[in-house]
Amino acid sequence: MQTKESLLKYEKITTAELEKARDRAVELIKRNIDKFTHYFPDSNSVNNFYPQTENVEWTTGFWTGEVWLAYECTRDSKLKEVGDIHVKSFMKRIVEKIDVNHHDMGFLYSPSCVAAYELTGNEEGKKAALLAADNLMSRFQEKGQFFQAWGELGAVDNYRLIIDCLLNMPLLFWASNVTKDPKYAEKATTHIITAMNYVIRPDNSTYHTYFFNKETGEPMRGVTCQGNRDGSAWSRGQAWGIYGSALSYKYLRNTEYVEIFRRLTDYFLANLPSDLIPYWDFDFNDGSNEPRDSSSLAITICGMLEMAKYVEKEEAEYYTQVAKILLKALVERCAVTNPKISNGILLHGTYARASVNNPCSNRGVDECNTWGDYFYMEALMRLTTDWKLYW
Ligand code: GLY
Repeated sequence: MQTKESLLKYEKITTAELEKARDRAVELIKRNIDKFTHYFPDSNSVNNFYPQTENVEWTTGFWTGEVWLAYECTRDSKLKEVGDIHVKSFMKRIVEKIDVNHHDMGFLYSPSCVAAYELTGNEEGKKAALLAADNLMSRFQEKGQFFQAWGELGAVDNYRLIIDCLLNMPLLFWASNVTKDPKYAEKATTHIITAMNYVIRPDNSTYHTYFFNKETGEPMRGVTCQGNRDGSAWSRGQAWGIYGSALSYKYLRNTEYVEIFRRLTDYFLANLPSDLIPYWDFDFNDGSNEPRDSSSLAITICGMLEMAKYVEKEEAEYYTQVAKILLKALVERCAVTNPKISNGILLHGTYARASVNNPCSNRGVDECNTWGDYFYMEALMRLTTDWKLYW
């Protein structure tokens, strides 16, 4: 457990350490580029090495995002070539509707195709990202006013939103901006209002998923999918809520989202263990043998650095200082320093951990995962450059 005072006693990362960690991450990305040009890294590593996969699942956009981040650092033309090859793969995926029957269009298309368009003017990236936005729009449920995350549209056993979806909303704000058609932003705004109303509990922890009545749209109940139990705080869900509320504020400038950000962040920080690397669920803390989820910390750091742009100076300084403390912990405890032990960037993530109260099987437990790598790199970029968001 941490208090504001105990947290601020930890050492902050220095500029030299940040630059060293960022340059090391770029080198690791470049080492892997040949293996992952025509294939992608799987969602998580196995014994710390990512196998190759086709462009499937919700996670391939993160690797392309890493390629673009590395390109921003180096302007190495080889990285741009690879990013452009990936854009073609993402275009094929959305045109042929390969594994896009879910809501994660933002995770897939913002760091890959939106980034390609915004950074290099890649028109194919723009078209693919707009098709992905249209695909996401088809999942909006009028009864309940939310984007259905998973499964067949309207299926009673999946008539729910999930907190992760807050990170899919920037794709829709981007689509409205590019097309000048407000319909995307309108639905994103509505979904955010619904999600914020139901996923946050009075103690500032969050539900992972929330069900609605399919016939009436009435809110029903919070249920976990990847957390330890329905009423616990899955650490990555809490992190999606933190970064999601910062991004919601960026687009909507509704001060309620600043307040929600503060509440969710307070909960996350207060429940950090003494080495600052969160367990996969906040049911666990110092003394537990359960695995950690480094990716939830990387996501939270990015959320804090985003919100630091909007709040008053003193509060911005607090979030920036804490981000530097947490990033030092990630660099020292989780960053890959030797490519012989891993072809990832950030160790000690957990994709899914089985518990008696969730439907998961163990997957990617104490492994690298592509979103952990990506958000770690994003955090380093935020603190070392004038980085413009892909979200
Ligand atoms: N969005 C799914 C996850 O965080 O595992």
